[in-house]
Amino acid sequence: MDICVIGAGYVGLTSAAVLADLGHSVHCVDTIDEKIKALNSGAVPLFEPGLKELIQKNRSRLTFSAPTHEMIEKSPVILIAVGTPSSPTGETDLTFVQSVVDRIADALTTYKTIITKSTVPPGTNEWIHQTLIQKGINPQLFNVVSNPEFLREGTAIQDMIEADKIVIGKRTDDTRSVAILKDIYQKIDAPFIVTSLSGAEMIKYTSNAFLATKISFINEIARICDKYDVAIEDVVKGISTDPRISPHFLQAGIGYGGSCFPKDVRSLVHSSLKKNVQPTLLQAVQSVNQTQVALYLNKLLAVSPNLTGKTIAVLGIAFKPNTDDTRYSPAVALIQKLSEQGCSVTAFDPKAHLPFLQKANVKQKPTLEETVKGADIVVIATEWEEFIHLDWLNLKKWMKGDLIVDARNCIDPEHIRQQGLRYLGVAKS
Ligand code: UDX
Repeated sequence: MDICVIGAGYVGLTSAAVLADLGHSVHCVDTIDEKIKALNSGAVPLFEPGLKELIQKNRSRLTFSAPTHEMIEKSPVILIAVGTPSSPTGETDLTFVQSVVDRIADALTTYKTIITKSTVPPGTNEWIHQTLIQKGINPQLFNVVSNPEFLREGTAIQDMIEADKIVIGKRTDDTRSVAILKDIYQKIDAPFIVTSLSGAEMIKYTSNAFLATKISFINEIARICDKYDVAIEDVVKGISTDPRISPHFLQAGIGYGGSCFPKDVRSLVHSSLKKNVQPTLLQAVQSVNQTQVALYLNKLLAVSPNLTGKTIAVLGIAFKPNTDDTRYSPAVALIQKLSEQGCSVTAFDPKAHLPFLQKANVKQKPTLEETVKGADIVVIATEWEEFIHLDWLNLKKWMKGDLIVDARNCIDPEHIRQQGLRYLGVAKS
């Protein structure tokens, strides 16, 4: 089947590569020329484990080009995977979706299934349907389907191939799309959850908001545990045996970041307020998350009250391991806050680049050794595997001081102390 994927970001590229791997002819289009040039020269403009290899493997079934009339016209299936960023009010900015809808309208002459993968607020898919009709398109010529993704950066390919569900939102008068989507995804062994357009939109937001809630919940519990000298890990272990709770997404630390959770919780809060529903819990989730970095900084200041003139090495820049993404990264927020304390900050990440290198007292270093050399304090801000299993004895030799701050609850305090270093964490001592 010919599928036109609009948008060559994380979601678009992953979807394009997996759909090609499932045997479809995929035409991936993007308005950013450099991206298309890079893809056509064999490069992948983002780091996602296995993506480059999967694109190479399926190169004969994949094309990359600027969004042309022809690509949209020749594909019976259009998959929208453009960005839906947050606007300053928290409302989702649908500018890219709107321009895609205009392009589709211009090229729509034969029947098309228009699949929205981008995360869009409740009501958006119905708006797409109505907009196409207002533009004079015959409703017999298309169906709009909401088919949200649940991909985690770092494991996006596996998450799509081994999906735990495929959500399909459709209009009640749509009798064609479910069969078409079942055909597209026939090689994926996952249950189909069929609902309304807004039902699918809400499933996506609820999923991310619930996971964000688990994180803020455990971070709040960690704050309480910290005061009572209780190890948060013991508490998580203790509650996780209950299958109603599950052990996942209960890792306390400097909070959630990335391109989805902060944006999607904000958007859901906005959608809720728009309908006069007070999103008390969601706002509390945001509030805990927004104060996690300050919590760790204050713990550090309690041990080392004057950071002026000190050198702090921050290990980790990405919002989580196995990605080069720094969007809403709590590690970046921590680096920013530390730099405001008048100390020199050196930072290291195996993949990510600091987005604000222009600051005189913040430097990204190319190696771990250069980052840590002469540091008074080392902070683990992203739990990359290589930081969890550091050679602490070597690290101690490179450092000037001896304090390790574990902002991700990912290292063993006993082991750190055995190497002659001091350990500082929240609800872990
Ligand atoms: C998330 C969703 O998991 C995915 O289903 C959705 O489609 C997109 O958003 P992603 O943003 O890639 O995926 O990252 P995820 O692994 O969910 O982590 C999000 C943030 O939460 C990270 O900053 C991570 O460090 C943090 N986190 C996660 C915690 O602080 N504790 C946890 O227990 C889990």
